[in-house]
Amino acid sequence: MDFDRIIDRRGTHSVKWDMMQAAYGVSPEDGIAMWVADMDFAPPASVQRAVEAMAAHGVYGYFGDDRAYLDAIGWWMRERHGWTVDPSWIFTTHGLVNGTSMCIDAFTKPGDGVVLTTPVYHAFARVIKASDRQVVECRLKNGAGRYEMDFDAWDAQMTGRETMFILCSPHNPGGRVWTEAELKGVADFCRRHDLILVSDEIHHDLVYPGRRHTVMAKAAPEIIDRLVMMTATTKTFNIAGCHSGNVIIPDEALRKAFGKRMMAMGISPNSFGMNMAEAAYSPGGAAWVDQLMTYLDGNRKIFDAGIAAIPGLASMRLEATYLAWVDCSGTGMGAEEFTARVEKDARIAVNHGATFGSGGESFLRFNIATPRARVEEAVARLQTAFADLQ
Ligand SMILES: Cc1ncc(COP(=O)(O)O)c(C=O)c1O
Repeated sequence: MDFDRIIDRRGTHSVKWDMMQAAYGVSPEDGIAMWVADMDFAPPASVQRAVEAMAAHGVYGYFGDDRAYLDAIGWWMRERHGWTVDPSWIFTTHGLVNGTSMCIDAFTKPGDGVVLTTPVYHAFARVIKASDRQVVECRLKNGAGRYEMDFDAWDAQMTGRETMFILCSPHNPGGRVWTEAELKGVADFCRRHDLILVSDEIHHDLVYPGRRHTVMAKAAPEIIDRLVMMTATTKTFNIAGCHSGNVIIPDEALRKAFGKRMMAMGISPNSFGMNMAEAAYSPGGAAWVDQLMTYLDGNRKIFDAGIAAIPGLASMRLEATYLAWVDCSGTGMGAEEFTARVEKDARIAVNHGATFGSGGESFLRFNIATPRARVEEAVARLQTAFADLQ
């Protein structure tokens, strides 16, 4: 795989590249898009071949017979995560934001509290609020540049009106790979407060060498009757445009409630998503992910070293994900000023920390899943934009 190859994504209806002017005022002419969480790389050859075969066939009718797709998921989870999944547990949704929204609908009532550990992926709060539920922000502790759970503080916050906990594992942003002890802590918390646990594990394959992701269903089998697992091929293989995800529910009663919701929404699979996912979950796809993570590890080191050379900026050490989380509080500047330096001076489009909920205000999120030359260029521009701090 040639991850160094620059592929021009401008003019392809890409959110990341074609909306950055509208969203941040950064021109795609000379700007660098480091916001939306997709990668600037082509997917594995097996995925490309699957799409080409569909195009060559040229008939795009309804999708049916998902046995090979379900087998591929079973194989991937067993091989890569040591988890045995029964095919009957798997629902295919139009992505995991859609999956989250249907979980909220199926397992909570309007007015209920849904617990998030902030700062966290911004779409969760958006979906909770749009569903007329309450966001309950449980803050992660920033222990010397590493997020940690704070169960004592969270226990004190619970009012009895909370019915669901959405966990992001590994965590976006900040890139923590939660330990088994931390996952057990979450499971115990959910039991103590009678919460359904939705474990969004979309980043589970994007783990750096030396770290190991633990599937929640394996970490805490004792809470299987209140657990909803969510996984996808889209983040791992950079095929988010196919909008497909898996909601995996071992418990029969929860499965029934979720299945009813799917039925009410009239959701059925997208044939491109199914074929691409099946092709991705293959030995070739696995080899591609291993190469990807080695490449991203190189990007991460270059980015972190470049940021460390700027007084006042600190990049959290990622254990997973390609989403660097940079604390700008050490500059002494307000968010408006440090953001303007990044967007206007360095011409880099990034995610604003405040959108991830409380605790994110002094941060910016940079997507480093792009050819290395771009990461180097971004670092050079940032060093110039903050040169007066040297
Ligand atoms: C934790 C998390 N969940 C879900 C998504 C998006 O999922 P989908 O594209 O399947 O809706 C993202 C995208 O960045 C994410 O970080």
